[in-house]
Amino acid sequence: MTGPETTAPTDPEILRTRALEALTTARARTALLTSCVEDPELTAQHSPLMSPLVWDLAHIGNQEELWLLRNVAGREPMRPEIDGLYDAFEHPRAERPSLPLLPPAEARRYAAEVRGRALDVLEGTAFHGTRLTEAGFAFGMIAQHEQQHDETMLITHQLRRGAAALTAPDPEPMPLFTGPAEVLVPGGPFTMGTSAEPWSLDNERPAHRRFVPPFHIDTTPVTNGAYQAFIEDGGYDDERWWAPDGWAHIRQHGISAPLFWRRDGGQWLRRRFGVTEVVPPDEPVLHVSWYEADAYARWAGRRLPTEAEWEKAARHDPATDGSTRYPWGDADPTPEHANLGQRHLRPAPAGSYPAGESPLGVRQLIGDVWEWTASDFLPYPGFTAFPYKEYSEVFFGPEYKVLRGGSFAVDPVACRGTFRNWDYPIRRQIFSGFRTARDASPELG
Ligand code: AVJ
Ligand code: FE
Repeated sequence: MTGPETTAPTDPEILRTRALEALTTARARTALLTSCVEDPELTAQHSPLMSPLVWDLAHIGNQEELWLLRNVAGREPMRPEIDGLYDAFEHPRAERPSLPLLPPAEARRYAAEVRGRALDVLEGTAFHGTRLTEAGFAFGMIAQHEQQHDETMLITHQLRRGAAALTAPDPEPMPLFTGPAEVLVPGGPFTMGTSAEPWSLDNERPAHRRFVPPFHIDTTPVTNGAYQAFIEDGGYDDERWWAPDGWAHIRQHGISAPLFWRRDGGQWLRRRFGVTEVVPPDEPVLHVSWYEADAYARWAGRRLPTEAEWEKAARHDPATDGSTRYPWGDADPTPEHANLGQRHLRPAPAGSYPAGESPLGVRQLIGDVWEWTASDFLPYPGFTAFPYKEYSEVFFGPEYKVLRGGSFAVDPVACRGTFRNWDYPIRRQIFSGFRTARDASPELG
């Protein structure tokens, strides 16, 4: 028994419209991220951790060509000689600037040409019969892929030095959150993962029952103010709080605060998309590694939630025993639910978005900051790679930790209660934060 799951629309015209909108939204964002700086900034490498922006641009087009034109429509390769350049496994990010990449104008033209043909394919696609196009999956997968690279490009923008190239309004001011600091999630089984969400990716599948002992979880992500207390208490100088590898890492690299922070006299400043500002105490902490999140939690007498705990807090509805698509239910995200889609260039204060809270009252599980979990990135029971092993399968194992929930930089198409992200535990250029948890006494089952 896996509990009820909602079913997807089957009307082909609805599916076609959704696919078109998802692809169009992604391309508008790609255009923004690659037109707000001059060409030399597109070909430069702003950090060895990142590709030049012009690589992401052509890679987006190349993946779209591979899946929508070659695999779905059976077309011949348009430019087989460039495939190797844009294969993420052939060239690590650090060496991509020295490749003979398509220059910006050519990369734009290539991506636009692929898109024109892909929209013709979309017109003629039936959304049933083959797994790749069932309910428009391949189109949804490619829209998600582009949005994921848009988030990657936004990270590159954050790492880039110099004046601001991007601006966005701040989140609407909200009354300060005064609710409880944590909620109890009763013990028992729940349905984790999905077998019904049509555009879910292979690692989210299949739905399966998981038993989760009772636990308490923070109502909101950990704030900058709370994290500053950890710093001020000497948290970075006290080996007791740190996993051994994390301690070695922060010592070796002289890490003593979140990335982009610097102390100025009595206060903490941070650089955010080209602007330096005082660190806002009420905002969820951003740009911390898994090791920093884990150390903070230990210092606070708590721990990171497991991935199953996170998903149970986000999806399980105790009233029905079902799992919903989002904390607020099955409805697609709106701006009232969550801070998604790069509408803002920062998280909203902790406790924002009451309309997005879970049945137990947990807030901001979706949007604002990616949340580190305690868990390694592993396949669910019954996992099969689809449509390619290099999306998830080659990354399964103990070297990656799972992040959940999406950040302000994630588009709704690439964010849901089942969505799984992963990265190395040292990484913190990503839009990562966390919340903490603790065991509950067993009688709270
Ligand atoms: C799921 C975010 C880890 O960016 O490495 C993009 C997504 N996979 N192109 C990544 C992805 C292939 C992936 N993450
Ligand atoms: Fe990619």
